[in-house]
Amino acid sequence: MRRRTFLIGGGALLLAGAGAVVYTRRKISGGPPQRPPGAPIGPFGAESTAEEVTAGLDLAGRTALVTGGTSGLGLETSRVLALRGAHVLVTGRTLEKAKAACATLPGRTTPIELELERWDTVAAAADLVSTLGMPIDMLVCNAGIMALPKLEQVGGLEKQFAVNHLGHFILVNRLLPQVKAAPQGRVVAVSSAGYRWAPPAGIEFDNLSGERGYEPNKMYGQSKLANGLMTLELARRLGAEGSSATANAVHPGVVNTNLGRHFPAWKRAAGKWIGWTFMKSVHQGAATSCYVATAPALAQTRGLYFEDCNPVVPAPGKHMDDTALAARLWSVSEGLVKEYLA
Ligand SMILES: NC(=O)c1ccc[n+]([C@@H]2O[C@H](COP(=O)([O-])OP(=O)(O)OC[C@H]3O[C@@H](n4cnc5c(N)ncnc54)[C@H](OP(=O)(O)O)[C@@H]3O)[C@@H](O)[C@H]2O)c1
Repeated sequence: MRRRTFLIGGGALLLAGAGAVVYTRRKISGGPPQRPPGAPIGPFGAESTAEEVTAGLDLAGRTALVTGGTSGLGLETSRVLALRGAHVLVTGRTLEKAKAACATLPGRTTPIELELERWDTVAAAADLVSTLGMPIDMLVCNAGIMALPKLEQVGGLEKQFAVNHLGHFILVNRLLPQVKAAPQGRVVAVSSAGYRWAPPAGIEFDNLSGERGYEPNKMYGQSKLANGLMTLELARRLGAEGSSATANAVHPGVVNTNLGRHFPAWKRAAGKWIGWTFMKSVHQGAATSCYVATAPALAQTRGLYFEDCNPVVPAPGKHMDDTALAARLWSVSEGLVKEYLA
């Protein structure tokens, strides 16, 4: 057993035993990951960095949009895509934050204001991008919030579902014509292995408000499952219409970013002091998103869920590959945000 493998399992179990929020990983659950039949398997893995998985690629002339590009994985994803020559549209919750992030990045970047809990700003951001007119080769739905301690709502809906899923659902739908206009456009949803924490039904359609029971990780899991189901249904639709565009979901790995801002102080301290034993670096955490957004080998791969830079068969019974649920979620989501869809 390699040292890192041992540490990943041991460190995560230690935190789990202490009640901390950790993601289960294949190294804990045992056995090698199952691969979807026929899916291209690449040479990269858990320790690969975003720079490594994009080495040698020339993305000049291509455009990427990265939500939540102001921090953590989104900032690193934006940096590496720009480093490889892409024009990166970096979204931030305020224009100032997006500008500040762009100022730290190499290459060609454009700051855009996009606040996922204010769907009018999502629509406005999409309209702005539409007026820019270029095809979007990579749409990386990365922004997210996690495990809000108490129930918060947006428009009467539980906030993690509203921000992580519905905000991106609006954005993706409005920008889809530009993604489809690219020679081979890609939608990448940054989901999480935390989809396993979703309720037994997967999506609690009778509790989207959260008022019939709120549990922070469960609702985060539901929102991350929704990210994956969105790409599953989108992939089906793109395939049915013969589009060259693709849609896939990724788990970045466990990374010590600002995502844990709502954790109690002791959990954040634990992450800081022993997180190195089992967490990826930000450079490694952005690798799977960058790989799925750019790898030439994945030009025809859609509707899959990736971990550690390769597709994996999702956990049985946890709905990540539930096509019927994905279709229902798409339809319900359309109804919930119809006034913001183009
Ligand atoms: N880190 C991990 O271990 C891990 C594991 C699995 C999945 N993920 C997923 O990875 C993605 C990136 O997370 P991260 O770890 O990089 O966390 P992060 O450092 O907190 O970055 C999250 C980004 O999303 C933005 N954001 C938050 N709420 C938003 C809103 N309402 N509207 C628009 N933007 C918003 C944040 O902006 P502000 O900073 O201005 O709030 C920030 O730019 C998330 O979707 C997360 O679920 C992370």
